[in-house]
Amino acid sequence: MHRIAAIGGDGIGPEIINAGRSVLNAAGEKYNFDIEWVDFDIGSDRYLRTGELLTEEDITGLEACDSIFFGAIGDDRVKPGIIEKGILLALRFHFDQYINLRPIQLLHGVQTPLANKKPEDIDFLVVRENTEDFYVGIGSRFKGSEKTSLEVIRNLYSIKFGVDVESDAEEVAYQIGLISREGAERVIRYAFERAADRGKKCSSVDKANVLSDIYGLWREVYTEVSKGYPDVETEFTFVDAVTMWFVKNPEWFDVVVTPNMFGDIVTDLGAMIQGGLGLAPGGNINPDGISMFEPIHGSAPKYKGMNIANPLATIWAGSLLLDSLGEREAANAVLKGIESSIVAGYVTKDMGGSQSTSSVGDWIADKIRSGE
Ligand code: IPM
Ligand code: MN
Repeated sequence: MHRIAAIGGDGIGPEIINAGRSVLNAAGEKYNFDIEWVDFDIGSDRYLRTGELLTEEDITGLEACDSIFFGAIGDDRVKPGIIEKGILLALRFHFDQYINLRPIQLLHGVQTPLANKKPEDIDFLVVRENTEDFYVGIGSRFKGSEKTSLEVIRNLYSIKFGVDVESDAEEVAYQIGLISREGAERVIRYAFERAADRGKKCSSVDKANVLSDIYGLWREVYTEVSKGYPDVETEFTFVDAVTMWFVKNPEWFDVVVTPNMFGDIVTDLGAMIQGGLGLAPGGNINPDGISMFEPIHGSAPKYKGMNIANPLATIWAGSLLLDSLGEREAANAVLKGIESSIVAGYVTKDMGGSQSTSSVGDWIADKIRSGE
């Protein structure tokens, strides 16, 4: 029995999560496990109604589950940042989901914008660090005369640029990127473990040539961890160059490990080469705790309630979820079901089909039940 929390969230979130649930339920029937779904009303609607983002009760409820299946959040009626930070990032941090696993894999039948690239050319994993870097939320914005607790920043700024920081004409903002040895170590180790399983390479994506303190530490830790994996090929790359190579030579990559911010950026690029955001899943993973699986796209509020959104990224996230619970066979069947629906052209409008969100979910669920 697996107890899975369902957070539909905003916009198309509830619809895609429902499609995902049908598929996971079918996988449970076929592979003999039960799922107990626990619904959570978390998102913009409740925030606008009650002012609550995440309550103590939500957290206690989620802590009693084995995993979280997350739709999407974000709503035009709420100022950007509030929901993202107050719900999505808050959950990643609360559950210490320090790995953000994003497979970049071109499924059969999917069109990639890259000319001449085939499924065997685009098949790698991005392991994005998920709790540190510029996401730690330490920063501030202030005018010259405003007092800040971080006097040291004012002083450094003043010394470096020779400006009078007491003057209101000066306005400064800063944001701290933080990498800890322990934080880097655990995610890099996970990436090497995955690379060892796949038997190939683990590439570090960073910018140690400029941001040399934080990414210098990152590289040092990477080098230490790599010593435990003599069979895995190692490689340092810079994030700017990687954006070119993802496009030109995606076949070079096997496992890519990257700090949070660059991971955010390169995985949208990765999503595009595997057919678009409609096909890009992500797992926020804590191997010793509660993980959370989601499509990496947003809530697309204008399509809310229309039953036309593409559920495949969410269903694929469901496959990652099953895999994390040890249901390997079921996870593979779900991925195979996604591929079948694409090959059969049984897809939503964004992928050139004419099916609804729910009918794609039902079709894949039937496919899994029939064991085809
Ligand atoms: C993602 C998203 C989030 C992030 C936002 C919504 C906070 O872009 O999951 O990639 O930046 O991590
Ligand atoms: Mn992103």
